[in-house]
Amino acid sequence: MADDVTFHDPDPSVAELLASRPYLDMDPLCGLMLDGVALNDIADKVGTPCWVLSGDTLRARMHRMRQAMQDAGLNASIYYAVKANDHLAVLSLLREEGFGADIVSGGELARALKAGIPAHHIVFSGVGKSDAELEQAIGLGIGQINVESAEELEIISSITSKLGKQATITLRVNPDVDARTHAKITTGLAANKFGIPYDDAAALYAHAASLPGIRAAGFSTHIGSQILSVAPYRAAYARIADLVRTVRAAGQTVDVVDCGGGLGISYRNEPEGQPEALAGAIRAELGGLDVRLAIEPGRWPVGPSGLLLSTVILNKSRGDEAPFLVLDAAMNDLLRPSMYDAWHGLVPLSPHDATLAAIPTHVVGPVCESGDTFARDRQLPPMQRGARLAILDTGAYGAVMSSTYNSRPLAAEVLVDKGTWHVIRPRQPQDALWQDERVPSHLAGTA
Ligand code: LLP
Repeated sequence: MADDVTFHDPDPSVAELLASRPYLDMDPLCGLMLDGVALNDIADKVGTPCWVLSGDTLRARMHRMRQAMQDAGLNASIYYAVKANDHLAVLSLLREEGFGADIVSGGELARALKAGIPAHHIVFSGVGKSDAELEQAIGLGIGQINVESAEELEIISSITSKLGKQATITLRVNPDVDARTHAKITTGLAANKFGIPYDDAAALYAHAASLPGIRAAGFSTHIGSQILSVAPYRAAYARIADLVRTVRAAGQTVDVVDCGGGLGISYRNEPEGQPEALAGAIRAELGGLDVRLAIEPGRWPVGPSGLLLSTVILNKSRGDEAPFLVLDAAMNDLLRPSMYDAWHGLVPLSPHDATLAAIPTHVVGPVCESGDTFARDRQLPPMQRGARLAILDTGAYGAVMSSTYNSRPLAAEVLVDKGTWHVIRPRQPQDALWQDERVPSHLAGTA
């Protein structure tokens, strides 16, 4: 795990992208395969755009995280961050493997329960939990609430008193550490809205321990997402360890440190975050404290497990300028490139296309915004109308961030698991776009 984030320049080629992703390979007859399943078969039957997720890859990556914690001798629970991909099939698969859930809303709580994850195996994070969400969670006996402010602590105490219940809480501390990631997904700087200011945490913890209905169990932190170097983790955990020692010296009990999520993946063939390095950082800073540990990974397990299949609607040539490849997928499906300038690998499904000499190409969606751009000046084989391609590493923060902007129905979703594939969400029918809309009678015409 590199300590400084460096990007490969030039972009990795199609062959390089495939070589570093063992679950993908290019069959000379069937084209791009995921876990031995021809993606062209899925596109023929389900159409595009279509999200495809590999259950085997997701399982293997979660197991690697668990193994890394065990090998480091850490007593650590793993709570999957539901926001990364909240599909019930994903949550059910993870429940089957014994993982818990990290949630940030009543909706995510309901989903996790629906997938069979027990309430006591769920952690509730988030900077603004509504009273209704807190009542629901406390009433159900949620495992842990990560409290983000002094105000929230008081609200929780009054809800537990009203319900005659007790809530196990940690204080989410903002360690004021730069995670060296994109500004929009950095959460551990003092300027960010998240967590309790470091200098306030010890006093607030003592106060929490004195409040009725509150069991103050320890601390949590989460410094950001897509973190590729281990140094910010170590810096944050060192500060939390100091805090634990300080409050213990003042006579408080600390049982839990929740280390958050954020481990980054390899979008552009840069070295990805290593669970073993994360476990090493946790052990080095927190291992001697005799606390129960937790992590909340989202992107790392599920991101590389998924891709988005798309078809070229047309190849819009512009003389000597790079052509626009207009896809049937758009920013309403995959928001990451327009929101964070995110780089995602693009791989043709056809074995023939994949061998052609690459040329600079702009890859865009059909939505009426120039920001609806997946890649600019990407070296890609020339692809014609009707050709298909896969947008890689979209299992996390992909389908979950979709909208129906431009009245584009939500794309289909498929799970490839144990050698076969299942439609886990049919493409949204057009009339479902307006099924919840009500037109007042004085306006009703043909609608
Ligand atoms: N725990 C907390 C409290 C979080 O806020 C998050 C993510 C996670 C865990 C999981 O982080 P991960 O392991 O997935 O990095 N939409 C953005 C990412 C937003 C992350 C928000 N919080 C993206 O597409 O890059």
